[in-house]
Amino acid sequence: MPLLEVDRLQTHFRTPDGVNRAVDGVSFHIDKGETLAVVGESGCGKSVTAMSIMRLIAEPPGRSAGEIRFEGKDLLKLSEKEMRKIRGDDISMIFQEPMTSLNPVLKVGRQIGESLRLHQGLGRAAAEDKAVEMLRLVGIPEPKRRAGEYPHQLSGGMRQRVMIAMALACSPKLLIADEPTTALDVTIQAQILDLMRDLKQRVGAAILIITHDLGVVAEVADRVVVMYAGRKVEEAPVNDLFADPKHPYTRGLLGAVPKLGSSLDGEAERLAEIPGIVPSLKKKIEGCVFASRCPDAEDVCRQFAPALEEKAPAHLAACHFSNRDAAEAAA
Ligand SMILES: Nc1ncnc2c1ncn2[C@@H]1O[C@H](COP(=O)(O)OP(=O)(O)OP(=O)(O)O)[C@@H](O)[C@H]1O
Ligand SMILES: [Mg+2]
Repeated sequence: MPLLEVDRLQTHFRTPDGVNRAVDGVSFHIDKGETLAVVGESGCGKSVTAMSIMRLIAEPPGRSAGEIRFEGKDLLKLSEKEMRKIRGDDISMIFQEPMTSLNPVLKVGRQIGESLRLHQGLGRAAAEDKAVEMLRLVGIPEPKRRAGEYPHQLSGGMRQRVMIAMALACSPKLLIADEPTTALDVTIQAQILDLMRDLKQRVGAAILIITHDLGVVAEVADRVVVMYAGRKVEEAPVNDLFADPKHPYTRGLLGAVPKLGSSLDGEAERLAEIPGIVPSLKKKIEGCVFASRCPDAEDVCRQFAPALEEKAPAHLAACHFSNRDAAEAAA
């Protein structure tokens, strides 16, 4: 049984000018200890997917349907109390901007300690000792002194480390990281990624990482899900996705294809720009969601939505023509 199975997830938002289908029928799974990356342009539903798994979507205006099975249990059916336990013990999330999720008036050692007390039932002294231990583990120098500081006294990179320390304090089975390095400069980014990899090995957590950065994908992911306009358009093991993208959208994103294992050097490895604009999520789209921007679209694409099909082993794509290149090459 996979650790997490997201099954036909739909998260829609009611807005004054219509329903925003932010996530519209997305399925994927994550195995124990696996790292899955979710990529796609801004607004395609990545964060909403993560927030839906954590059950952090405010309802109304939001509403999730489908199933999100964690160790076989449907999270969407749990009470808020049961869900709070899952959030602390089993699934942790790191947000893009650490300041929004750190309490500015609590010393960082205390914050990590509080979560240990809450979820592991440690006493205050034991919790604060373990908090210092966690700060050391995430590579914060002089952890005992730093534990006594407030978030604003730390640099951005250190705050992100504190977030990771908090997220990992209870040894979660799944860590969800939404753009964990975007706000950081390049050398710190590389250090944080090293840290996540190292901790993954040590703690054995599965990771769901959301990122714009293909360098990050190449470095940490086992498998990749590509989202577009609230749908999953492609999914593949990381090497297959880079070597042989099957969806024209993915080929567009990979425009400047980064080499696997290459170092992180900023903009060159960002997703490429694709001409045109993402369609409104407030209108039902007939046909393929990408047809309006696709260089290869034909009439059939505008009329019928392509099914997500296995185009190669473990490699899914939703495109009427994704094997065309291969067919043309063979002809
Ligand atoms: N609370 C909300 N109310 C209404 N619409 C929302 C709400 N939260 C998100 N959305 C909409 O859901 C869609 C998907 O947003 P989401 O934040 O998941 O994008 P994203 O892929 O994470 O983008 P980015 O890369 O910029 O972080 C967007 O159209 C957004 O406006
Ligand atoms: Mg986002």
